[in-house]
Amino acid sequence: MPIRTCIFDAYGTLFDVSAAARQAAGEPGFERLTDTWSGVARDWRLKQLQYSWLRAITNAHTDFWEVTQNGLDWALEAHGLQGDPAIRTRLLDLYWELQCYDEVPAMLARLKDAGLNTAILSNGSPDMLDGAVRSAGVSDVLDDVLSVEQVGIFKPDRRVYDLVIERFGGTADSVLFISSNGWDAAAASGYGFVTAWVNRAGEPVDRLPWTPTHILADLVGIPDLTRG
Ligand code: LAC
Repeated sequence: MPIRTCIFDAYGTLFDVSAAARQAAGEPGFERLTDTWSGVARDWRLKQLQYSWLRAITNAHTDFWEVTQNGLDWALEAHGLQGDPAIRTRLLDLYWELQCYDEVPAMLARLKDAGLNTAILSNGSPDMLDGAVRSAGVSDVLDDVLSVEQVGIFKPDRRVYDLVIERFGGTADSVLFISSNGWDAAAASGYGFVTAWVNRAGEPVDRLPWTPTHILADLVGIPDLTRG
């Protein structure tokens, strides 16, 4: 089946989630992040995702903004920074205006020029996603931004992936789903999408019952994957 629709995960895939801690570390007043920012960013992300999975399997949903704050609080305490409210406030503010990866605007424009549907499908709350899409300047090259808040459970629950077919129609194998999260790309393969795992860090493939269809180092080659 030819690809008609390209669906992107948001955080870590289009938007650089390390950018908040990296940027804050270079700002005056945040010298305590100089040596710790990459560990804080890694632990923040890891806890944010763990909490999303745990809330999904225990039926204890809350929105991604709360999970993002909970993950940051854990990471700040792990790095001895819990007594510094200015760092917490600055990191959370920056999360609303994350930079996108350099290749994103031109890559999305190529997909739109080719007549494909383009959208985000993310754990993010609608407000968070709106902030990120605006600050990255990519609203013109996206047809829609789909949030898990429409179904009230986080990825990789199948009801989240259902949102794509409900919005754009077609069959699952006419959708190319792109994520930098190996578990997300794998689960979307299990759902029936054609998938691309963007593996910027050169990580091992997740040991799960499903595997990504394609593995790329960045997003530049995505349009080529849509040409049968
Ligand atoms: C998202 C997270 C999983 O945007 O990166 O859904």
